[in-house]
Amino acid sequence: INYRKASFFTSAPDIRKLPPDTGYEVAFAGRSNAGKSSSLNTLTQQTGLARTSKTPGRTQLINVFNLEEENRRLIDLPGYGFAKVPLAMKLKWQKSLSEYLEKRECLRGLVVLMDIRHPMKDLDQDLIYWAVEVGLPVLVLLTKADKFKSGKQKAELLKIREASLAFQGDVTVELFSSLKKQGIPQLSRKLDEWLNA
Ligand code: GTP
Ligand code: MG
Repeated sequence: INYRKASFFTSAPDIRKLPPDTGYEVAFAGRSNAGKSSSLNTLTQQTGLARTSKTPGRTQLINVFNLEEENRRLIDLPGYGFAKVPLAMKLKWQKSLSEYLEKRECLRGLVVLMDIRHPMKDLDQDLIYWAVEVGLPVLVLLTKADKFKSGKQKAELLKIREASLAFQGDVTVELFSSLKKQGIPQLSRKLDEWLNA
C-alpha cells in the first residue's frame, strides 16, 4: 500500500459518525502525547495530515484517514491517560475509545504507541491484554527512539520484547522515531499484512 496516498476523511465524536463498518481498519492508540499523530504523518510523509501538539490531549476525536485502496482506513484515536483534563471529558473520550475498540468489526490490527522513555504503563498493558483476548494483533511502537542512543534503544527494545511474551498473543515490538524517520518499513509491512494488501 502506498501510504503517501492517505487522505483525511472525517473526525467523529463517536462511532455512530464513522463510515460504515466494512472493509479494513488499523487504529493507532496510546497515551496522550505518545506520538500517535506524528507517526501517521511520518508514515504518510505528509506533515499536516494528522494534527500534532506539544499539549497532550490534542486528538479528542476519532480521526479517519482513507487509503487509496478501496475500503481501507487508518484511524487516529484519542490518547488516554492524560490527567489534566476535566473528568467529564475524560469519561467521554474513554467511552468513544472503548466503544470503538469493542464494536468496530472492521478493525484488523492495533498499533500501540509508547514513548520509549515511559513504556508499558498500566493502561497500555490493559489495552494489549484486551486486544490479545479478542484475538486482535498488536504492533507496539516504542516512539521517540531518538531520545536514546542506539545502544540504549536496542536494550530497551529487547527488554520490552521479552516482557511482551507475557501477553501470550500476537504482539510485535519495534523502535520508531518520527524525528529520524526510523521504523517506517517495519510499520508499513505490518499494516500491509493487516490491511490484506
Ligand atoms: P495526543 O493526540 O495528544 O494523544 O498526542 P499524540 O500521541 O498524537 O502525540 P503527537 O504526535 O501530537 O506528539 C506529541 C509530541 O511529541 C509533539 O511535541 C511531537 O513533536 C513530539 N514527538 C512526536 N514524535 C516524536 C519523535 O519521534 N521524536 C521526538 N523527539 N519527538 C516526537
Ligand atoms: Mg494526536
